[in-house]
Amino acid sequence: MTSDTGLGDISLTLVGAGKMGGAMLQGWLKLGLNAERVAVVEPFPSESLKALCAATGATLNGAPTLHDIVVLATKPQMLDAAAQTLSAWVGPETLVISVLAGKTIANIRARLPLAKALVRAMPNTPAAVGRGITGVYATEAVSPQQRDVTTKLLSAIGQVEWVGTEAQIDMVTAVSGSGPAYVFYLTECLAKAGEAAGLPAELAARLARATVEGAGELMFQEPQTSPAQLRINVTSPGGTTAAALDVLMSEGGLEPLMEGAVAAAKRRAGALSG
Ligand SMILES: NC(=O)c1ccc[n+]([C@@H]2O[C@H](COP(=O)([O-])OP(=O)(O)OC[C@H]3O[C@@H](n4cnc5c(N)ncnc54)[C@H](OP(=O)(O)O)[C@@H]3O)[C@@H](O)[C@H]2O)c1
Repeated sequence: MTSDTGLGDISLTLVGAGKMGGAMLQGWLKLGLNAERVAVVEPFPSESLKALCAATGATLNGAPTLHDIVVLATKPQMLDAAAQTLSAWVGPETLVISVLAGKTIANIRARLPLAKALVRAMPNTPAAVGRGITGVYATEAVSPQQRDVTTKLLSAIGQVEWVGTEAQIDMVTAVSGSGPAYVFYLTECLAKAGEAAGLPAELAARLARATVEGAGELMFQEPQTSPAQLRINVTSPGGTTAAALDVLMSEGGLEPLMEGAVAAAKRRAGALSG
């Protein structure tokens, strides 16, 4: 691994350049990763991936080379198939970063026995627009410098949060990994409620969508203000918002419902891990 604190001198292999791998690759190149030190392994490359590699000088499906870092971004169920090819790209000095949902460190180690420094990361879909958040766990063999580079690489798709135990990755999965779907569903419910209140369906859908987009942007632009404070700021005592929140915050309201949803996702993440 290079001593440079930037990404320019890092050599990296990306295995699987689909939605997540492709978003990371574009982000890394923007952050200054030297494309000539990047190899991409992708059995069925899209035209845009071929064009990106040709334009930047990244190697697509070239001969195996031992690079500083291998990033695993295939579908989790493709790990076994990919592992055979992969073993030629992974040596004892290679840092392996996996974003494969549900694949544990033990699982990856079993397929890549040479790999010592392993990182397990759980991103989420807003990564596609650079606004994801990724929970990350590292094995003891990962050096502080490798952690630093991992943070830089993953910050290409959004925020990065390190966790202290691998078990916490299942909790990250249940909160932020699956979380975007909860927000999309909240948007659907708000639209349906608007329709039930008497609005035309399409107008209700536009109002709900813009409201969630705008509220998210407000939180993004005011990181120092807690969501609770933002809520209080728009809730006049005895007003319309307060009337709605009385329902949402009642016993059996949104809080216990969300707690149950996250607990169910965490249980499922644990059951699917392997
Ligand atoms: N998308 C998300 O929001 C998200 C969130 C958290 C974690 N993840 C994880 O990120 C990983 C990728 O997800 P994705 O949504 O990006 O899926 P995806 O778009 O299907 O990308 C997977 C890519 O890996 C390629 N691939 C398959 N077998 C391979 C092999 N043997 N060697 C090299 N590449 C191979 C696939 O090629 P083909 O299409 O030709 O099969 C595809 O381009 C998954 O493990 C997922 O759990 C994704």
